[in-house]
Amino acid sequence: MQNQSQLRQQAGKAHQATAIAHPNIAFIKYWGNQDDALRLPVNPSLSMNLGDLHTITNVQFDNKLPVDMVVINGQPLPMNSPALERVTSQLDLIRRSAKLWLRAKIDSSSNFPVGAGIASSASAFAALTVAAAAAAGLDLDEATLSRLARRGSGSASRSVPMGFCQWLTGDDDSSIASSIAPPNHWELRDVVAIVSAAHKTVGSTGGHPLAATSPLQAVRVATATDRFNVCREAILARDLATLGTVMEEDAVIMHAVMMTSRPPLYYWNAATMSVIHAVQQWRADGLPVYFTIDAGPNVHLICEAAHAETVMAQARQLPGVSDVLVSGVGGPARLVEG
Ligand code: DP6
Repeated sequence: MQNQSQLRQQAGKAHQATAIAHPNIAFIKYWGNQDDALRLPVNPSLSMNLGDLHTITNVQFDNKLPVDMVVINGQPLPMNSPALERVTSQLDLIRRSAKLWLRAKIDSSSNFPVGAGIASSASAFAALTVAAAAAAGLDLDEATLSRLARRGSGSASRSVPMGFCQWLTGDDDSSIASSIAPPNHWELRDVVAIVSAAHKTVGSTGGHPLAATSPLQAVRVATATDRFNVCREAILARDLATLGTVMEEDAVIMHAVMMTSRPPLYYWNAATMSVIHAVQQWRADGLPVYFTIDAGPNVHLICEAAHAETVMAQARQLPGVSDVLVSGVGGPARLVEG
């Protein structure tokens, strides 16, 4: 097994590299930017990497290519598509730093279904950034990689470091994510109750600029740092009741902002609400589990490993739940052989 610095050296010589990154679930959410182009968030956020889910991306710079070519889960991205332009802009950041003017072939695949309510942009832009930087011959530290990944997708900044990660507000240089605890700090599980696999009509990138149109956003932002601090301490102390309580409040206040934006964004469906009610009942019955919800209808059930099987079995019984996924805590984005 080669270490990261050996893999980086090889990658720089060959102009090609492969990286793996995990998606993450935020306990304290990022919603709204101070600067949409630079993806500078209005509040700090906190998340856990999902180790059982990943994106693997190969980047190969090639002097024979006239344009960047991107294949995702076996499907080429169409020319001039917004998705392809987003990848090209991210590669341009790296090409500029490396003073390398070659186009690249990118092959990326994820082991979790699109539409599972798990943001693939986080793992995708973290893996792309780590692989492209190495393939371009750059030797960058984790903070710089997190900062660059942020430019591709805000939540991708949190998929670069390992385990439990915080992403701070700041300017382009200082708004980066770092790990507050390694994966083995706490055996938490994210049990994802899938209530709809349909593609959302407004994704996060379209949603962030709407946040400021809600009269509730100012209140959310003014109180976010307090929730962030409570959540951070709860993670460090492995205190699930405190983590769960603040995490639920944070998710609901974000959805209140979404629902009161102009135009409003309603991500929940009837089954989302049924799962929330079920979680409250399970807790009343003594099962320690808490929910959070991203920009979609699916519900993430956070519990300790010892209760994951029970939570999965009970979630499968709920009306409207079509599938259930589970993941433990994951490591950092990193280079791999291949
Ligand atoms: C609701 O990071 O997906 O999942 O920066 O436009 O790619 P872009 O947005 P993205 O937003 C994530 C929003 C969220 C909350 C969170 O993960 O913090």
